[in-house]
Amino acid sequence: MHVNGKPTRTIWPAADGRSVEIIDQTKLPHRFEVATLRTRADAAHAIKAMLVRGAPLIGATAAYGMWLGMMEDASDAGLDEHYERLHETRPTAINLRWALDRMRALLKHLPVAERVENARLEADAITEEDVVLNSAIGDNGVSLIHEIANKKPGEAVNILTHCNAGWLATVDWGTATAPIYKAHDAGLPVHVWVDETRPRNQGAGLTAWELNNHGVPHTVIVDNAGGHLMQQGAVDLVITGTDRTTATGDVCNKIGTYLKALAARDNNVPFFVALPSPTIDWTVSDGIREIPIEERAAEEVTHLTGQTSSGGIETIRVTPAGSGAANPAFDVTPARLVTGLITERGVCHASADGLASLFPEKAA
Ligand code: MRU
Repeated sequence: MHVNGKPTRTIWPAADGRSVEIIDQTKLPHRFEVATLRTRADAAHAIKAMLVRGAPLIGATAAYGMWLGMMEDASDAGLDEHYERLHETRPTAINLRWALDRMRALLKHLPVAERVENARLEADAITEEDVVLNSAIGDNGVSLIHEIANKKPGEAVNILTHCNAGWLATVDWGTATAPIYKAHDAGLPVHVWVDETRPRNQGAGLTAWELNNHGVPHTVIVDNAGGHLMQQGAVDLVITGTDRTTATGDVCNKIGTYLKALAARDNNVPFFVALPSPTIDWTVSDGIREIPIEERAAEEVTHLTGQTSSGGIETIRVTPAGSGAANPAFDVTPARLVTGLITERGVCHASADGLASLFPEKAA
């Protein structure tokens, strides 16, 4: 997508042929800064400290992290070490394990001397494929927006989204945002309700920043406003992303997604989840019991970071110093609350049968 009119991705190999560049998302929306990853440890840090985040981008960064690691130590022991150090960075998004498994499966059968070059080619391939998958999600999801637009001619289609499942969470296009960008580019009137998404505010800081850059009409709301807006008929459609979806259609996504799905069901608002197939965990069938939920630092809840009127960035405490805080980062929305899954192969029912109809080779 575009930043200041210039086509930009979230991650790309640097011109020196030995490092990787990323948008440092911890600086957005107030500063646009590019960071350089030179080592596997740099890549692991970027994922853990959330300079990059979002399931597909975590996968792409891990793939490049394996390449950076191969340049440091391409032995079998090195391969296992790079895999482990990258894998332990974040527990919930399955794209991390998917990308690492794919890299290791390829590299372990190659002679050591060929591993660096092939790691780079495979990381490039994973990155390019992500763009293609998300674009296809956009093509498949835009028809849902068309259908609603046809029923309310001249009026905007109001879409609510949670967290950032935009292009910043992927290599390009985003998952939940891909149909929105395609609809907007095709001239359909869309308006996006952007959940701020406490505690890290990926909606307020990242989704709003991207929509702003692309000129898509949007309004930031506090996380608690969605149910009220649905009762008022101000939401036509919810589209979220996911960090891991089970083979049975349970959807794990940013904390608060489940509450939106409950409100959507109570108000007959369609609740769709957009995902590329590397986000499906075919080994898991019960999302609530089997998906590990990341517990992040209490400081993300007790403190807020923002820009002061003089332009500086400051972090302030919002809770009493003596109060503890819990910070589960994801929740699971049971498949029964999900209207449908938008994938690169089409839209399906959120169920084992629905996913099997689109991905028979995986379901088998
Ligand atoms: O903690 P984050 O910012 O990595 O969480 C991101 C999300 O929950 C996204 O909705 C999800 O990864 C889908 S991204 C296309």
